Amino acid sequence: MGKRASFGGRLGVLLVAAGSAVGLGNIWRFPCELGQNGGGAFLLIYLVCAVVIGLPIMLAEFSLGRMGQSNVVGTFRRVSGTNKYRWIGYAGVLCALLIMGFYGVVCGWTLDYVYQAVAHGFSSMTAEELSQSFKDFSVQPVRPVLWMILFLTINCVVVFLGVKEGIERTSKVLMPLLLLLVIVMCVRSVTLPGGSEGLRFLFEPDFSKLTPQVVLNAMGQAFFSLSLGMGCMTTYGSYIGKDINLGHSVLQVTILDTMVSILSAVAIFPVVFAMGINPSSGPELAFITLPNVFNQIPGGYIWAILFFLLLSIAALTSAISLLEVITAFVSEELKISRKKSAVYATVLIMILGVFASLSLGVWSEYKIFGFSFFEFLDDVTARFVMPLTGLSISWFVAWKVGRKRLEKELTNGHTIRAKYFAVFLFLLKYVTPLAIILVFLNQTIDFF
Ligand code: PHE
Repeated sequence: MGKRASFGGRLGVLLVAAGSAVGLGNIWRFPCELGQNGGGAFLLIYLVCAVVIGLPIMLAEFSLGRMGQSNVVGTFRRVSGTNKYRWIGYAGVLCALLIMGFYGVVCGWTLDYVYQAVAHGFSSMTAEELSQSFKDFSVQPVRPVLWMILFLTINCVVVFLGVKEGIERTSKVLMPLLLLLVIVMCVRSVTLPGGSEGLRFLFEPDFSKLTPQVVLNAMGQAFFSLSLGMGCMTTYGSYIGKDINLGHSVLQVTILDTMVSILSAVAIFPVVFAMGINPSSGPELAFITLPNVFNQIPGGYIWAILFFLLLSIAALTSAISLLEVITAFVSEELKISRKKSAVYATVLIMILGVFASLSLGVWSEYKIFGFSFFEFLDDVTARFVMPLTGLSISWFVAWKVGRKRLEKELTNGHTIRAKYFAVFLFLLKYVTPLAIILVFLNQTIDFF
């Protein structure tokens, strides 16, 4: 194998990693979770999780990946020098596959909304009609599946072509634009009459809503949104140049990702209350509230097209990182060409995706533990697989890699300072694992 590809420079790393982190998780999943978990209290716990669990694990994953210079399974082998810890890598690859199973479906929805925005706009529709139209669409057997297949094909082509040329370049232009657009929508949304109730829901934590379940969900959301606990940041870490300050990059990615989540919630909840939509609605929340905002903005037709286009792109940069985890694994471990690996992985994802999409409509009577297959994939990955794999990764990096090697990696071979190192190691060794375990224990006790 030739020289391993790498991202170009600090900005490249930031945008590619933020491209992975910022996605449907922020604009679609975060508001939905917030709404279902009682608002402000969830937000607060989410922020605690992002700092106490997210930051250390992302740093651990980046340094692990850059040390290992391989896919997520290969990295564990190379860094430890044995095959003993490979299973953590396998869990990551499996998790990437399961996430893509439902993520691809939602990615398909975003494309359909681009199409709808172009074809007729949303301006003639009332809140009621918007909500009905989403419900009618998502349960159809064919249309969402076709959009999903189209999206996954584009995704495959980008990964096929290599991450650097395609994605790094596009991200540099489009991510800032998305941020700008979300800000515009926030401003319009908070100035809607009746919107202040939405802000209160968001920023006034009601601690009576704080159950062990809510805490588990917030932790899951932090893992999901920051793309942690499944080898994505480990794989990306292996493409990061040896001269990059990993600590800085991690901080920037986390701040950016959290900002987009909060801004999305600020764009969505005032509308929810102003229009009398139920805040705890499910996956449809973003898709029915945001078109309502466009209706209130002059030139809404254009804004809507632009927004859904950018949302698809944000989704694409995340989907690419998920596919990259699987592709790098298949091609490096099974010695299959990169292109073939990307295609095989995509076909597998499409099959899962068909099941997930149909589970919302024609197959909705088939349930797994009371969940549709779509919800099951979403729930099981974010709430269990990611935190548990994340726990294993942090355990491995904190206890098996060794302080010296870790410090060397984070200081780029002692050429830069990492003043935070002692704090980081303390968090990673004790606080982060303990926090994850406590959340699970708390949940289990509640269960019985
Ligand atoms: N973080 C992405 C989002 O918020 C989803 C994702 C999860 C991407 C895991 C990669 C790995 O949409």
